[in-house]
Amino acid sequence: MTPEPADTASRRVVFRRFGGPEVLEIERRAIPLPAPGEVLVRVAAAGVNPVDWKLFSGQPMHDPYERSLPSGNGYDFSGTIEGLGDSVDGWRIGEAVFGGLRYHAQADHLVIDPARLVRVPVGLSLPEAGALNVTGRTAVASVASQRIIPGDVVLVSGAAGGVGILTAQLCARQGARVLGTAGPGNHALLRRLGIEPLSYGDGLADALRIAAPDGITTVLDTVGHGTVDLALALGVPADRINSIADYDARARHPIRGVGGASAGACELRGIAQLIADGAVELPIDSVHPLEDVREAYTRSMSGHATGKIVLSTTPAGPIS
Ligand SMILES: NC(=O)c1ccc[n+]([C@@H]2O[C@H](COP(=O)([O-])OP(=O)(O)OC[C@H]3O[C@@H](n4cnc5c(N)ncnc54)[C@H](OP(=O)(O)O)[C@@H]3O)[C@@H](O)[C@H]2O)c1
Repeated sequence: MTPEPADTASRRVVFRRFGGPEVLEIERRAIPLPAPGEVLVRVAAAGVNPVDWKLFSGQPMHDPYERSLPSGNGYDFSGTIEGLGDSVDGWRIGEAVFGGLRYHAQADHLVIDPARLVRVPVGLSLPEAGALNVTGRTAVASVASQRIIPGDVVLVSGAAGGVGILTAQLCARQGARVLGTAGPGNHALLRRLGIEPLSYGDGLADALRIAAPDGITTVLDTVGHGTVDLALALGVPADRINSIADYDARARHPIRGVGGASAGACELRGIAQLIADGAVELPIDSVHPLEDVREAYTRSMSGHATGKIVLSTTPAGPIS
């Protein structure tokens, strides 16, 4: 086989204009070199998050995301260290690592300050690790925003989604009774994870009154779709409602809005270990080759992924 020219040996996902998944392209470039204090990571898996498509679509964002064109894409990744810049101590070539690097993750290679990396614990697969940065930190931070104790009855909206499925399991680990909204196709999964499933849509308010006649103590909203207004109508105190998705409700009511920005590497390490130990599950909805990035985002934008969508940089597809 003819070797690839060195200046095109690495692929990355880019967008040069705002729009739908069709704006995403694969660009070939030279493998980046780590500067002093940085490491080169050979990316194995890169997670897909709704925030990515909000960014490449050019939607006005509530968070201070800087966007300029052309741009790389993606935030979450896992892989192995392939190169060390000068004066990097404590890291070895070949170590499996994961983390987040906004606008750079969906690529064969990236360079990063290793202080931002977390080692992949034994028992965590590279697709799981590559999908964990945003959802893991967000779930840990949003659960920590409420002091959940045994006896609490918690409603998690979007309990089968990337953030929701971790959020719901973390609440159950605190000893709470957890009710989770999802489509009927995800009810068996939620039940197996110890979460009581309820269908969203018409009838949810009545179903909640029946399921929790003494009331719901806490609501962790991961999807919006009126969850906050419903929670307030059911008598949940505003300070026991946290929404990571409904900025309009956050502007109208004194609810909480604690999300991923409130957690870092320490929290990421903690949730990674729980998944590695089998104490918490992170279902992988689908793994797509990097070239099929548009299909991966079409799936994400459908709003019905179960757990996480992941891109794989290996031509053979899924990696373990
Ligand atoms: N502020 C932050 O720090 C932060 C961090 C991460 C994410 N977010 C935001 O949080 C939201 C969720 O992120 P994610 O990664 O968890 O998304 P996701 O994985 O794409 O969520 C998909 C899930 O949403 C469920 N769903 C769709 N419509 C629903 C409805 N009307 N009611 C209840 N569930 C519904 C689906 O369930 P079915 O398939 O069963 O229908 C599916 O399992 C996004 O808006 C994202 O941008 C914010």
